[in-house]
Amino acid sequence: MAYISGIIMGKTITVSYHKTPCYNIELQKDFRLLPEKLKELGYGKNRACIVTETVVEKFYLEEVKSLLSPMFALCTSFVFEEGESNKNTDTVGKLYNHLIQNSFDRKDVLIALGGGVTGDLTGFAAATYLRGIDFVQVPTSLLAQTDSSIGGKTGVDFLQYKNMVGAFYMPKLVYMNISTLKTLPKRQFSSGTAELIKHGFIKDNSYTNLIRSHREAMISQNYETMEEIIYRSCLIKRDVVERDPKEQGERALLNFGHTIGHAIEKLSDFTLYHGECVSLGMVSAGYISLQKGNITQEQLEELKHILSGFGLPITLENFPHSPEDILATTKLDKKMESGKIKFVLLKTLGDAYITKELEDSDLLEGIRYIMGAIV
Ligand SMILES: NC(=O)c1ccc[n+]([C@@H]2O[C@H](COP(=O)([O-])OP(=O)(O)OC[C@H]3O[C@@H](n4cnc5c(N)ncnc54)[C@H](O)[C@@H]3O)[C@@H](O)[C@H]2O)c1
Ligand SMILES: [Zn+2]
Repeated sequence: MAYISGIIMGKTITVSYHKTPCYNIELQKDFRLLPEKLKELGYGKNRACIVTETVVEKFYLEEVKSLLSPMFALCTSFVFEEGESNKNTDTVGKLYNHLIQNSFDRKDVLIALGGGVTGDLTGFAAATYLRGIDFVQVPTSLLAQTDSSIGGKTGVDFLQYKNMVGAFYMPKLVYMNISTLKTLPKRQFSSGTAELIKHGFIKDNSYTNLIRSHREAMISQNYETMEEIIYRSCLIKRDVVERDPKEQGERALLNFGHTIGHAIEKLSDFTLYHGECVSLGMVSAGYISLQKGNITQEQLEELKHILSGFGLPITLENFPHSPEDILATTKLDKKMESGKIKFVLLKTLGDAYITKELEDSDLLEGIRYIMGAIV
């Protein structure tokens, strides 16, 4: 972290889209520089709508609104009920209505203040309202700061299908106040570690080693440690989405742990958090990688050890659904191509690949492994 005349400079990462600089990710210790960063982008005379949900509202809406109100002609807020079950087209419809009632037009901007649910939903509304208005990500959860706010994937759940309706739509800015993690409940913090650990497993073993050696400092939320961990996670995600912005190849590696994870998330009625389900999905996929002769038993144990070290689940006990139910639910996922599931396996720790060659029996074994039927 650099200091100039008492002002914390933070860290900046630029994300390009088709080789042209597209938006910056700002890592900051507070919200103070948000108005300045928005002014640099030319915002000022227009309207802004801060979109957030009922939990984040209580902690941060007033502060962000009072910082932004002086610089906009109008600064409104739209607050929806917290939780994944509200990441749907009904909430988007209510947001459209709020924007229409307040005469928002294409020069205006939406500001997503919250976790991945808020970012995904706001981004989707921004992509579709008047065929597209600007949006800015202000992620407040660990998952959103290390993963979901970067890369322009926006969307909502529809009927029983997760992220079924969406758009690739880039934010104009990602501004993260890392200090907001202090108010994140412990279980949510732990859930957020799953995606950053995933970045190490699929791309960069040196990052995994950094996480392993800084576990205590991360759990106690040492600021410098968290800044470095989040920064490195953003770099890994940035590099992947720059090379493959629309998931035609490499970006699908980021779905490691998500095929089985999403099925568990759905069948748990979202009582298990996204990162917890991704953790279980990664253990399953790790076991299948072992069965295919890619990783060793020691590497699988190491993968599990890192996840459980952050309080993430590595077994699914007393789950009221069978392995067959979980398998059937994976088929509802959109990661299918010509009826075949696209599945991410590990070649080794730090290197993943995509396969369409898995049989149902392979997936079932992976699911049975986390459910304790295979030891
Ligand atoms: N777009 C992408 O590329 C991408 C990638 C990964 C995940 N996702 C999506 O992200 C969502 C999960 O994100 P999430 O875990 O952030 O969920 P979330 O937005 O529901 O946030 C988790 C919980 O933490 C609370 N919270 C957030 N910030 C807080 C803070 N600073 N202090 C106190 N409480 C706070 C929220 O109110 C909520 O209860 C899922 O819908 C998933 O599909 C999207
Ligand atoms: Zn995810």
